[in-house]
Amino acid sequence: MPAERDGSAPVPVMVSGEPEMEALGGRIAHALSPGCLIYLQGDLGTGKTTLVRGLLRGLGHHGGVKSPTYTLVEPYRIGRLRIFHLDLYRLADPEELEWIGFRDLLDGEGICLVEWPERGAGDLPAPDLLIELDYSGKGRRLRFTPGGDCGRSIIRALGVPEGAIRT
Ligand SMILES: Nc1ncnc2c1ncn2[C@@H]1O[C@H](COP(=O)(O)OP(=O)(O)O)[C@@H](O)[C@H]1O
Ligand SMILES: [Mg+2]
Repeated sequence: MPAERDGSAPVPVMVSGEPEMEALGGRIAHALSPGCLIYLQGDLGTGKTTLVRGLLRGLGHHGGVKSPTYTLVEPYRIGRLRIFHLDLYRLADPEELEWIGFRDLLDGEGICLVEWPERGAGDLPAPDLLIELDYSGKGRRLRFTPGGDCGRSIIRALGVPEGAIRT
């Protein structure tokens, strides 16, 4: 999966706790546009689902957010927006992507948030935004790499000049 589809450098963001992670998700939510494809890549426990929960709440979702580890995809409708939260950790066979209708999810106006995209490598398109997550002390270090307009808008909205901080 190309991490730098348009040659932009990853933008680092330090996040020092679960509430801060949810708040960051809320800020991303406000810069999202329909059709946006976001990949969340990082080890177990680095905060991918936490970020998605903050994002969904930022969009106005009030219920719980369960990890789609077994179902692969969890759909949400918030107002006129359709959001699909995927977790491909247990993807055993790339054909399962076809069974859940991944192409159709991407074709529409839906927003797709994909945990463990590397499990579907080769069968997935390049994202509008790649978020890489790592442990850093008690917090997390995130890196945002834009691959499309939606990703660039999100990085701009976070107030970090794109490419300003090179890693
Ligand atoms: N920025 C952060 N700093 C510290 N702990 C965090 C942060 N983000 C999430 N966590 C914690 O990490 C744990 C795993 O989070 P989760 O979102 O389930 O990870 P993942 O989906 O990547 O497996 C949770 O206990 C959560 O509270
Ligand atoms: Mg998760």
